[in-house]
Amino acid sequence: MATGVHGGVSTLEVGTDIVRVEGLVKTFDGTTQVLGGVDLTVGDGEFVALLGRSGGGKTTALRILEGLDPDYSGTVLVPEQRSVVFQEPRLLPWQPVWQNVVLGIGGSRSERRAIARDALEEVGLTHRADAWPRTLSGGEAQRAGLARALVREPRLLLLDEPFGALDALTRLRMHGLLRRLIAKHRPGVVLVTHDVQEAIDLADRIVVLDAGTITASLELTDIRGSEDEVERLAEVREQVLAALGVEYEI
Ligand SMILES: Nc1ncnc2c1ncn2[C@@H]1O[C@H](COP(=O)(O)OP(=O)(O)OP(=O)(O)O)[C@@H](O)[C@H]1O
Ligand SMILES: [Mg+2]
Repeated sequence: MATGVHGGVSTLEVGTDIVRVEGLVKTFDGTTQVLGGVDLTVGDGEFVALLGRSGGGKTTALRILEGLDPDYSGTVLVPEQRSVVFQEPRLLPWQPVWQNVVLGIGGSRSERRAIARDALEEVGLTHRADAWPRTLSGGEAQRAGLARALVREPRLLLLDEPFGALDALTRLRMHGLLRRLIAKHRPGVVLVTHDVQEAIDLADRIVVLDAGTITASLELTDIRGSEDEVERLAEVREQVLAALGVEYEI
């Protein structure tokens, strides 16, 4: 069951979708239309990867889903419990890691400390609980960001290129961590990424945003584990690249 971003009327009766976006239009400064009628649903527990050209409006869409930007037209229904992780970790530099993780979470100091400890353990960062954010590596900072997102037990996890700034090996490790966390917590996910392979590796479905609308939606779940998985994933890759306007040859 989803509700309006801004505490609006809950109009989504069907229990299987956690996001329903219909005719989402976003214009900046009254003239520049960035989103020109986006339609998107995300099923409960579904992992959707959102790809699109740079400047195409992905972050804009994600900010609207998170509720950070109320200035749009169209229908946007999302669950109350949602968390976002951005490309840059956005940890408060004057608070130790554990306090960043439980930012905005109520309770006594010891209760909050225990919540942070559990979350940091999940992301393999217990030993950095008392560290200052500036002393963390990029991968550690993103793990802290994931821990902070997950202590809210989100039904919808919004990820805006969370691994974009990491080296290839750390990124692969983060993929493994994200998979484990999602298997445990089962949130619906919208992951914005530029990395087609990352989308193929992680998502149940890939959607492409182009010229302000969703121009492709490619299902991956029925491909995984199939006999011709490799060939079919290669086809998906080709279709995604074509939808992104990238010319390439195998
Ligand atoms: N606050 C703002 N005021 C005016 N224009 C904006 C604002 N925020 C974003 N834009 C413009 O909206 C367009 C979409 O930006 P957005 O950040 O959503 O793109 P994106 O798809 O996330 O790009 P990238 O892949 O590079 O992160 C861009 O042209 C950007 O300049
Ligand atoms: Mg962006």
